Amino acid sequence: MNTEPSIPFPENAERRAAITRDIQAATGLDEAVLERLVRQFYETARRDATIGYLFDGVADWEKHIAKIAAFWSSVALLTGRYHGQPLAAHYPLPLEPHHFARWLILFEATARQVCSPAGADLLMEKAHRIAHSLEIGAAVVRGELPRRVRPGT
Ligand code: HEM
Repeated sequence: MNTEPSIPFPENAERRAAITRDIQAATGLDEAVLERLVRQFYETARRDATIGYLFDGVADWEKHIAKIAAFWSSVALLTGRYHGQPLAAHYPLPLEPHHFARWLILFEATARQVCSPAGADLLMEKAHRIAHSLEIGAAVVRGELPRRVRPGT
């Protein structure tokens, strides 16, 4: 039986808000900074010779930017604003390791321009981890890697 309340208890919402405030205070990251980061990143990424064409299928850029800003708000500020499935969006794309490497270079360059050093450090720590899991997850879904890698096999 699902005993989770559908609406969070106020003290949980308050605790989450307090955690978000602490992260904001320590890193200078907030919703406005994250939106600026996302906009500026895609300005560059869409025109990039290595990965730009991979975004040609994005039908509605304002919608995509809003979704990705919510994603970074959830990841960096722990706001819980994003509800989605990143892997499902990526595994159909012909993504190779050099695409992820380029994505990370462009994202870091933007983060260093737009955010404080502590903010950029936090974002890059998360970005590296997520890029790695998307890369592995997409390869598993496409059957290029075994679902489970057993030690010693
Ligand atoms: C070469 C690297 C990458 C490319 C070319 C790429 C491209 C894309 C594309 C085309 C979409 C679908 C957009 C749409 O149709 O609206 C998408 C969605 C998304 N991407 Fe990436 N991406 C890359 C790496 C990453 C990384 C490293 C992250 C996170 C750190 C990320 C986060 C997301 C998220 C959160 C979505 C939205 C998924 C959803 O629909 O909920 N992407 N990406």
